[in-house]
Amino acid sequence: MDDYPRTIANFIREFSNFIQNLPNIRLQIYFSFFTIVLRNIFFNHLQMATLISDTAPWKDLKAHVAEIDKTHLRDLMTDAERCKSMMLEFDGIFLDYSRQRTIVDTMSKLFTLAEAAHLKEKINSMFNGEHINSTENRSVLHVALRASKDTVINSDGKNVVPDVWQVLDKIREFSDKVRNGSWVGATGKALTNVIAIGIGGSFLGPLFVHTALQTDPEASKSAGGRQLRFLANVDPVDVARNISGFDPETTLVVVVSKTFTTAETMLNARTLREWISSALGPQAVSKHMVAVSTNLKLVEKFGIDPNNAFAFWDWVGGRYSVCSAVGVLPLSLQYGFSVVEKFLKGARSIDQHFQSTPFEDNIPVLLGLLSIWNVSFLGYPARAILPYTQALEKLAPHIQQVSMESNGKGVSIDGVRLPFEAGEIDFGEPGTNGQHSFYQLIHQGRVIPCDFIGIVKSQQPVYLRDEVVNNHDELMSNFFAQPDALAYGKTPEQLQSENVASHLIPHKTFSGNRPSLSLLLPSLDAYRTGQLLAIYEHRIAVEGFVWGINSFDQWGVELGKSLASQVRKQLHASRKKGESVEGFNFSTTKLLTRYLEASADVPSEPTTLLPKI
Ligand code: F6P
Repeated sequence: MDDYPRTIANFIREFSNFIQNLPNIRLQIYFSFFTIVLRNIFFNHLQMATLISDTAPWKDLKAHVAEIDKTHLRDLMTDAERCKSMMLEFDGIFLDYSRQRTIVDTMSKLFTLAEAAHLKEKINSMFNGEHINSTENRSVLHVALRASKDTVINSDGKNVVPDVWQVLDKIREFSDKVRNGSWVGATGKALTNVIAIGIGGSFLGPLFVHTALQTDPEASKSAGGRQLRFLANVDPVDVARNISGFDPETTLVVVVSKTFTTAETMLNARTLREWISSALGPQAVSKHMVAVSTNLKLVEKFGIDPNNAFAFWDWVGGRYSVCSAVGVLPLSLQYGFSVVEKFLKGARSIDQHFQSTPFEDNIPVLLGLLSIWNVSFLGYPARAILPYTQALEKLAPHIQQVSMESNGKGVSIDGVRLPFEAGEIDFGEPGTNGQHSFYQLIHQGRVIPCDFIGIVKSQQPVYLRDEVVNNHDELMSNFFAQPDALAYGKTPEQLQSENVASHLIPHKTFSGNRPSLSLLLPSLDAYRTGQLLAIYEHRIAVEGFVWGINSFDQWGVELGKSLASQVRKQLHASRKKGESVEGFNFSTTKLLTRYLEASADVPSEPTTLLPKI
């Protein structure tokens, strides 16, 4: 059943061969006509249904691995012409991918693979608002969220850009009012603190941008002492951390949920509603709680004034939603709309580059193809994201969701089981912290292709008179050194010439030949943060397009959610009515019983209790 589309493709291919071998020309013409009809019927389907791994360019790349295996980055790096061809710049961003295990020929083979995958057509389909998220029957238009006002981007025959700007203008107006104190809390005090409640895509992207801007001079000046926190985990500890030191009187809560049904977010929203109303009375909720959602009916049902709801649309995937009100509202409250608008402009610059630049010079396309080369051909399933700035400490957690929720799939977009592994395992830490943590494995253990991200000008320079270099140069020394250490390694011969004791030589040898790429940004401000975000978003889409999967659905998160609801029912029945644990396997029954017995002091009819910290 899984192979149904391929079976049809094979059948038509076989049938064409059969016709060509027919002795009678009239029969050949008659059957050819029949084949054309058959082909036309299945053309669209077949185009999508053919697995990329069945194509000649894929097989060619598979064969090419043997050629690459004969090379070492130590030697490849001596070829200046090769290296030069693997460097490019766009709008201030410099990419050097010369430390990938590729030769010029590899790149042209990857471009041929992109053609076979109809990459250009798929990119156009995305920008044209076609329903490329076929399992949810939706367009994928996060690019419309950062389009300029005069752009036309249609979804289902309607230009969505005016709607986008209507919400952006509403955010500008609302955030200005809160920031200048014309929107005050129930007791007349200015709202200087914001807690944004949301999880997954309704949390990680905004947190990443917030962390990037916190120490940017322009953004931090604009924040002027305001505070923004994110409540994501349903763990009451996260509630405690968020409300600690905050006064409901001066706090605005933004509930962010695309669906407005996510269990964790809704419980946290009810918890903070209680925190506000128990301190200020239930009427205070309308002044202290606003929402961001596609589901405005549920927002109203929750008790939030629909005038204080900021919409977005089902053509925005959760993990691609940071440029919608999901990110723009909390970030504008914190930094002002004009700073956030620069972030949107940065993302737009990459959108235009991605849409219009030939693949050879297209940063997201190149990065996406290199990822495919590393994962599907060289067999390196993971990728480390290593920004050399603490301001990007939340980049890796955000990209983890964008990448792994998008491309962690087992079937093609047509539902055919993939005969290869799609998706990448993403992790990362800022340098140099990571160097003192997991880099040992990267240097001498497994091969993990690395993204090194460096910033030319620090957000917060420090100069000390008697130091050899300033603090940022010290950081950047590592940014420049690590890729070469990975690429070149250190041979036993080198160690011998350094008189290293022979029993230590195996331990001190570095095999090298470990791929990485370097992205150098001139600075890290709102604009550059937007660029970086869009580079990763589009890179991940490129990977999915070439692998032939649907990068925009996430059915894999559903099963765990439904099992949790079964457990929730059991906990309720056990706590309230003392019912014993039933309907679970031996292990879960044992664990649940132990948990219930050990927490028997939890009251069955509790009075409201909120963290006091
Ligand atoms: O984890 C699954 C998921 O659906 C994500 O895709 C999404 O970002 C997150 O939950 C939160 O969903 P919502 O914004 O609807 O609360």
